[in-house]
Amino acid sequence: MKKILALVLALVLCIGCASAFAEKVGVSMPTKDLQRWNQDGDNMKAQLEAEGYEVDLQYAGNVEQEQLNQITNMINSGCSVVVIAAVTGDSLGAALDLAKEKGVKVIAYDRLLMASDAVDYYATFDNYMVGTVQGNYVKDQLKLDEAEGPFVMEITAGDPGDNNAFYFYGGAMDVLKPYIESGKIVVKSGQIEFNDVATPSWKTETAQTRADSILSSYYADGSKIDAWLCSNDSTALGVTNALADKYDNDYPIITGQDCDVSNTNNMIDGKQSMSVFKDTRTLAKQVVKMVGQILKGETVDVNDTETYNNGVKVVPSFLCEPVFADVNNYKELLIDSGYYLETEDGHVKALGD
Ligand code: BGC
Repeated sequence: MKKILALVLALVLCIGCASAFAEKVGVSMPTKDLQRWNQDGDNMKAQLEAEGYEVDLQYAGNVEQEQLNQITNMINSGCSVVVIAAVTGDSLGAALDLAKEKGVKVIAYDRLLMASDAVDYYATFDNYMVGTVQGNYVKDQLKLDEAEGPFVMEITAGDPGDNNAFYFYGGAMDVLKPYIESGKIVVKSGQIEFNDVATPSWKTETAQTRADSILSSYYADGSKIDAWLCSNDSTALGVTNALADKYDNDYPIITGQDCDVSNTNNMIDGKQSMSVFKDTRTLAKQVVKMVGQILKGETVDVNDTETYNNGVKVVPSFLCEPVFADVNNYKELLIDSGYYLETEDGHVKALGD
């Protein structure tokens, strides 16, 4: 009996020690406002915990200083690795310096951390490819090589504080700019350059206000728009809302990215044409693998050591492949894979809703 008791005690102590010594990983997400970051955070936490790590998950409410404080706390409270999706790429210098000083490894998650040598790795979806998928979709739908045109297009891009925004815009414009230059695509507003079409903080309301003003200024005569290139779903939603308010023709081709619930439902309803699916489970899985490799001192898997220069260094990166989504394949991608649930009226909803 005594022996059994001693054994049980030893076992309990052992489990206690293991959890007391579980490595702690900090996960810093930019905001809860956009659906995707909630999913990213949830997936990261669940997958890291399944690997036995303790997780400190924080959302920064899209406020740079808040994120800086949260990451500083993560480092001071003993995290061995911090995984960061930045509110703004170049605003975390002081926290990153502290990480370096304390030997804490830093993984930039989805968005590159700029202007710092303390960034160890970057994991993301291939951002340039997201843009080319969007650009090629517009090209194919309008049959730009065969049809006579001209076609009318407007452009809405992302946040100038997010390095990704330049890649999305660049990828799409590398496909579409030649047609703008040849006159086959006409941008009636004349707003083409990144700075003229950007959407600070990726805000739906900001994209909507700009689209409202374009519609009032250039399309109030009832003239038609063939395509509206949007870099992601939050901006596509703003454009779609403005069109619903101020535009009487059929919805133009509208691109997006993320397969957010509202946008997927807009695709089902014929209001948005496509989105790019970046399965947050895939990215989380890759990052959890990186964390494990770092903590075990193994070689960390990367597949790109050239593209992502943050101004100070080229950050070794793992690029996951984004997937094209539209009304024809969303069921397979999003419902059959268990990412969303189907509602009774044939739309989608998030798992927790
Ligand atoms: C992400 C996109 C997202 C956007 C707005 C970007 O950094 O890559 O997936 O739509 O931020 O949150």
